[in-house]
Amino acid sequence: MTVCRGCCCGTVKKHPDYDHAEQLRRLEEVAARSGGRVTVRTADCLDACENSNLIVVKPRGQKPVWLGFVLHDEVMADLERWLAQGGPLPEVLELNRVSPPAQA
Ligand code: FES
Repeated sequence: MTVCRGCCCGTVKKHPDYDHAEQLRRLEEVAARSGGRVTVRTADCLDACENSNLIVVKPRGQKPVWLGFVLHDEVMADLERWLAQGGPLPEVLELNRVSPPAQA
C-alpha cells in the first residue's frame, strides 16, 4: 500500500489533531505480521489532497483502491482488519473509497 505523506496528508498543518506517525506505525505493524503479503511505502502528494489522508491499497491482481479521509481510529481498525484478512474491499470501507485523480 502507499501512504501519502505529501503537503496535506500526514501533516499537522492540515490535520493537527491526528497522530500521523502512529497511523504509519500501525500500518507497518500490519505489514510486519503479513509475512510479506502487505508492504507499506510512503509517497509524496498523490494529487488528491482534498481526500487527505489518502492511502492507496493495491490488492494483488486487482485495481488499486483509493481510500480517503483515513483520519479516525474506526477507519484504521477496518483497514487493518481488511489488510490482515485480504479479500474484497469490505462494505464499511466503501465509505472511504475515493476516485483517483484523472491521470492516475
Ligand atoms: S498530500 Fe496526499 S494527495 Fe496531496
